[in-house]
Amino acid sequence: MTPVQRLRERPDLDGDRDDGPDRTIDLDPDQKRPHRGQHTDRGQHTDDGQHTDDGPTQPRHAARSGRTVRRTPSRLEMASERPQPSTSRVYDYFLGGSHNLAVDRELAARLSDTLPDIGAIMRENRAFMRRAVRFLLDAGIDQFLDLGSGIPTDSRPGGNVHQLVRRRRRRAHVVYVDLDPTAVARSQAVLADNKNATIIQADLRDPTAVFDHPDTGRLLDLTRPVAVLILGVLHDIPDADDPARIIAQIRDRLVPGSFLALSQGVVESRADTYGSASATYDDGYARGGPRLALRGRDQTLALFDGFTLVAPGLVFLEDWRPHLDDYPDRLAPASPDDDPTPGFRAALAGIGMR
Ligand SMILES: C[S@@+](CC[C@H](N)C(=O)[O-])C[C@H]1O[C@@H](n2cnc3c(N)ncnc32)[C@H](O)[C@@H]1O
Repeated sequence: MTPVQRLRERPDLDGDRDDGPDRTIDLDPDQKRPHRGQHTDRGQHTDDGQHTDDGPTQPRHAARSGRTVRRTPSRLEMASERPQPSTSRVYDYFLGGSHNLAVDRELAARLSDTLPDIGAIMRENRAFMRRAVRFLLDAGIDQFLDLGSGIPTDSRPGGNVHQLVRRRRRRAHVVYVDLDPTAVARSQAVLADNKNATIIQADLRDPTAVFDHPDTGRLLDLTRPVAVLILGVLHDIPDADDPARIIAQIRDRLVPGSFLALSQGVVESRADTYGSASATYDDGYARGGPRLALRGRDQTLALFDGFTLVAPGLVFLEDWRPHLDDYPDRLAPASPDDDPTPGFRAALAGIGMR
């Protein structure tokens, strides 16, 4: 059974179910070691990162006597069973999806407390995705590589990239890429009968693995222009991973006439609110370690090195060709003369041509 099939079998990833009562986790303050005297974790991690408890479950004398002995799981075992929030499932929750767990909803509530319009910002990001795809179709693109594609939450016609492109170009090809097992499993389910679109489980920080993947070679003709989408993802790629270098490697695999569509949370906007939202994000996803990588305008502009930005350039999400959007959840003002919706101006967006 593949890791993704295994996940499909896991009822705790069915959004209609809850993952049960919260269990208290009592770890040392650094949240890494069990208390002294506590059972040590005999479990192992499989190569796909899933936890398996291979440790003995019965005292030796009980095993010898053949009696079945119920053992209370150690606190660390309970902690290891409790899933961590995932960005794809939290995003799914904010977009009204059902593929999320209690831990995701708990973190979503905490994030909403610090940044009340966070859900609106995410919907605005999806609206930019739809406008970007329309623009790219207009530009003649019929091959799309969506890096960090997420869970296909929006089941409305035209809610996802492969549906949008199919409306206009039945033969257009789409390769989705995501690291997250739920995003991959859900995308596989949605794309089961689709010969023109697929999902690859890969890390976008390794462009070679993405471009040399057999499914990429099967669906994308790299001798022709491709549109690469990197939307709502780069805030999870720290500067230490050098996103400019990653994008340069991607650019070098693209022929002239290809495009890069990108959105990135910015640090300049609403920095006051972002201070606490950022701390909540770091706490929720990285147990307090640095995680949320917001970037300034110049830093974001530098990611387009080797691409020529199309009009209107690098602007706030809601200002990127708003007239292209025909969806009801378009939240930004229809007219440039109107005031922007308060609380927006959270992320920059742009499309560059190679
Ligand atoms: C907030 S969602 C954005 C989804 C979609 N791009 C959009 O704009 O609607 C971010 C997605 O990026 C994925 N992701 C984060 N880091 C990644 C990486 N290094 N490689 C591949 N996917 C990644 C997450 O699993 C998540 O599904």
